[in-house]
Parts: sequence; structure tokens; C-alpha cells
Amino acid sequence: MAIVVKVVDVHKVYRLGSIEIPALRGVSMDVKKEEMVSVMGPSGSGKTTLLNIIGTLDKPTKGIVYIDDVDITRLKEKELVKLRRNKIGFVFQTFNLIPVLTALENVELPMIIKGTPREERRKRALELLKLVGLEHRANHRPSELSGGEQQRVAIARALANNPSLILADEPTGELDSENTKRVMEIFRESVKEMGVTAIVVTHNPDVSRYCDRILYLRDGRIVKEEAAKALR
Ligand SMILES: Nc1ncnc2c1ncn2[C@@H]1O[C@H](COP(=O)(O)OP(=O)(O)O)[C@@H](O)[C@H]1O
Ligand SMILES: [Mg+2]
Repeated sequence: MAIVVKVVDVHKVYRLGSIEIPALRGVSMDVKKEEMVSVMGPSGSGKTTLLNIIGTLDKPTKGIVYIDDVDITRLKEKELVKLRRNKIGFVFQTFNLIPVLTALENVELPMIIKGTPREERRKRALELLKLVGLEHRANHRPSELSGGEQQRVAIARALANNPSLILADEPTGELDSENTKRVMEIFRESVKEMGVTAIVVTHNPDVSRYCDRILYLRDGRIVKEEAAKALR
């Protein structure tokens, strides 16, 4: 199976004045095509830092990250913008939908930015809303949707430009346990259906059990790895 994400001995040190904060201390991991991997760990263990580095939003102090065999740590800002737009979908804890746009328009947005023709993007946005079970909410604004529904719209939006990779940071952090279950079921089904690879950061075992594999992060290092099957 092809490797979509390859992280090689990544270190990250944040500098605040004269203080150095080591957030990652030599992380190496591979994520295979169509795999859904969970990164678990306590608060401050480096989960968000790792996800932001893989998502090209931050740079490692040392080490290499490959996405589809491209060393992203060597890319220029212009190439990174293109990579983020075409290859990576982001899902955030707080959904980050645009409040004045409808669910449909929110899903269309990444395709507008990419320049997808109107008819095509409308059709695809509707298909994606259907995939997450929200075609009947297409014309609702985020404020008219529950948290779980908003996150499902955000998942549809993350899939809009047919990315190879979806990165989710605490995607159910704002949801109750019932919605957490529903969102993760739909998240899993959607990425499997579309053949997308996903990395899900969480500290909730009820979230990681929907993934294929769990990597445990502690003090900036991967300390354990296990198949999530055991939890299901
Ligand atoms: N921008 C930053 N500047 C300084 N320190 C940071 C920054 N971001 C994260 N850190 C520190 O790096 C460590 C890991 O943080 P983070 O990746 O956010 O952990 P997690 O997502 O697992 O809670 C923490 O000690 C945190 O305080
Ligand atoms: Mg975090």
C-alpha cells in the first residue's frame, strides 16, 4: 500500500524569548493510503503541533515530512498554498463554518477558491452533503444547525476538493457523546467511501475506536501504537 504521509524524526522547539519549549522530540510515523489513524495523548503532548506540521501550517525545527512522496519542508509558500488547497482537508474542533453562508455554500467555498465551474461545484456540494446525511439542510445557515450537523458540513467541506488527506484536530471536542458517535460514524464512512486518508487527533477513546490504528503521543514522542479494532 502506498504511503501518503511519512514523518521522519521530526522535532519542534518553540522559542518564547530565551525559553525553549520542546513540543516534539523525534516523531516518526507512516500513514498508508486510505488508512484512518488516530493520534492520542494528554493535553500538551504535542498533538496539535504534529498535525499542524503535517498540514504545512507550521514547520519542524528538524526532520522531514513527506506527503505523497513530496518533502513538504522544502516547499515555498506559493507551493504550500497549492498543496493545502488541493491535497489537504482540515476539520477543526470549532467547525469554523462561515456564518453568513448556507451549508451548501460552505461546502462550495473551497471549490470556488480552486476555480471549479459553478454547475459542477453545486452538484458536488450537494453530493457531499448527501454523503454526510444533510441534503435536507443544504439551505440552512450554521446557526440553524446543531453542533453535530455543523461538523458534518465541515467534513463535507474538507472533502470538497478531493484531497488525499484529511486532518482533524479534536473534531468532537465540542460535541456530546451521542453526536460524537454519529459524527465519527459518518466521518469514517465518508473517508472510506471517498478513499481518503485521515489523521484524527483526540484525547477521547470513543473517537479513536473509529480509526484503524492509534498512535499514543506523550511529551512529544510516540510511545505506543495499537490497532483500534480491539476498542470496537
Ligand atoms: N505557538 C507556541 N508557542 C510556544 N509554545 C507552544 C506553542 N504551541 C504549542 N506550544 C507548547 O508545545 C507543547 C505542545 O503543545 P500542543 O501541540 O498544542 O499539544 P496538544 O495539542 O497535545 O495539547 C505544549 O507545551 C505547548 O505549551
Ligand atoms: Mg491540541
